[in-house]
Amino acid sequence: MTKDYTWWKDATIYQIWPASYKDSNGDGFGDLQGIISKLDYVKDLGTDVIWLSPMYDSPQDDMGYDISNYQDIYPKYGTMKDMDQLIEGCHSRGIKLILDLVINHTSSEHEWFKESRSSLDNPKRDWYIWKKPKYDADGNRKPPNNWCSYFSGSAWEWDEKTQEYYLRLFAPTQPDLNWENEECRNAIYDTALKFWFEKGIDGFRIDTAGLYSKDQRFLDAPIVVPGNEFQPSYKYSSNGPRIHEFHKEMFSKVTSHYDAMTVGEVGDCSREDALKYVSAKEKEMSMIFLFDIVMLGTTEGDKYNFVGYDLKQFKDAVKNQADFIKGTDAWSTVFIENHDQARSPSRFGNAKTIKSSFKSSKLIALLQATLTGTLFIYQGQEIGMNNLPRSWDIKEYKDIESINAYNEFVAKHNITDKNDPKLIKFMDAVDTVARDHARSPVQWDSTEHGGFTTGDPWMRVNDNYPEINVESQINDANSVLSFYKRALKMRKNHKDLFIYGQFEILDYDNEKVFTYVKEIDGTKAYIVLNFSDETIKFEPLEKNLKLLEANVDNVTENLTPWEGRVYLVE
Ligand code: NOJ
Repeated sequence: MTKDYTWWKDATIYQIWPASYKDSNGDGFGDLQGIISKLDYVKDLGTDVIWLSPMYDSPQDDMGYDISNYQDIYPKYGTMKDMDQLIEGCHSRGIKLILDLVINHTSSEHEWFKESRSSLDNPKRDWYIWKKPKYDADGNRKPPNNWCSYFSGSAWEWDEKTQEYYLRLFAPTQPDLNWENEECRNAIYDTALKFWFEKGIDGFRIDTAGLYSKDQRFLDAPIVVPGNEFQPSYKYSSNGPRIHEFHKEMFSKVTSHYDAMTVGEVGDCSREDALKYVSAKEKEMSMIFLFDIVMLGTTEGDKYNFVGYDLKQFKDAVKNQADFIKGTDAWSTVFIENHDQARSPSRFGNAKTIKSSFKSSKLIALLQATLTGTLFIYQGQEIGMNNLPRSWDIKEYKDIESINAYNEFVAKHNITDKNDPKLIKFMDAVDTVARDHARSPVQWDSTEHGGFTTGDPWMRVNDNYPEINVESQINDANSVLSFYKRALKMRKNHKDLFIYGQFEILDYDNEKVFTYVKEIDGTKAYIVLNFSDETIKFEPLEKNLKLLEANVDNVTENLTPWEGRVYLVE
């Protein structure tokens, strides 16, 4: 890690998920004009960059991560004119804009796939991954291998017309592109990247950035989830043989020609691979998202089998995401929420009451504001939005991932009764980690539907909008929103320490409190965070502490539950 200031290292990035941000025309869906109407709010928060999740034209089987046209806008979100206005509205406020780059797969409605599936000898046949079936001893047709989809079941989809399977690691309507085909790669670069760079955008969040290079042997994956016919394909599909070559090519052919940032969603990889992805000299991506923190407590290959975690594991996860850049020219990210994750106070704090939820949110704000790397905040995080109520039925959930996992679970265990203890445990996991917790509409005020829409919202607004909303927080100096603004300012005012400093944990074995220092060029900060429901005596491990920020009005010799403090060491 080097202290070479760069706009994208210093930046605080705010993620907007268009369906749920703000509806401007009463059709129940968030839209680009809704976002434009909130740009001053976003700026005021302390945001330097907006990451806009997919707004491209799409059948929306996976909320826009199934793109049918990279160069058009989903009509419910608006038009290209609105998009131009958004780019201009961001830039005129000094905000940069990055888009989501979804190029591991397209929608099956994309023209490329329609051509590819039209015949065995279509020139674009090889732009996707087609394989012949296998047959079992009884002559039953089977997929080419045992890879499972991230959304349950097989990763292969049968095409009746051409009598072959195509690979789709996600939904049946999200066929994987064949990155082995150079013509296809060049078409991706021109259509999905250059087009938008020329329109003036400032970079991309790269979706599933580790999945493009599949091991071409397409071998069966090892058994990770016993009892399941289909198994996670990571070994053969993640961080595969040509992945770094592909990223280098994309950088040299396109990204390097612009003053752009890229952040790749990688999730899991060896630290050796991580350095290849983001070391400056490798010329691949600016930074990546690793999932050590957000996957805590989940079971490999079986997300809804939630087994819990302890604070030591949390500390390890924070360290793992940060430490690999030490002494290198690589860069890291800081994030705890996004559109695929539960809300942070519910997941990592105590959201049982509004009071403890708000305090947890502020504690998490201090954690985020003091960690090294580029900081990402997800819409609603800044007001302490939390998970959907446990009482909600699965019918309220919209996300293909949870719905498919639910149906698969019910079928696998022959569940007929909603009170079956196995199903209750499964629903507890949904309550903890489902993606929809992040996807319910932003709560702007206490009017119906939280002021998100004047129509019927596409997804139910969290019942707690009367207590948690922007309007009630904006002029309240003690609100989560005001605290986030302060924490983000603190981060910028001491950017060497917090954005670039060295991170060292002081109390690894403590199961309740997380204490660490940040240090750079002879200056030092001391951060103590009580991640528990208990009051704990504050026993500083350093001398000469001067309080910089805290989530309580008065600090005493005790750390109250979910209390956090940041000190400078003088
Ligand atoms: C990762 C995205 O964050 C997620 O929302 C999506 O379902 C998959 N990639 C597939 O594109």
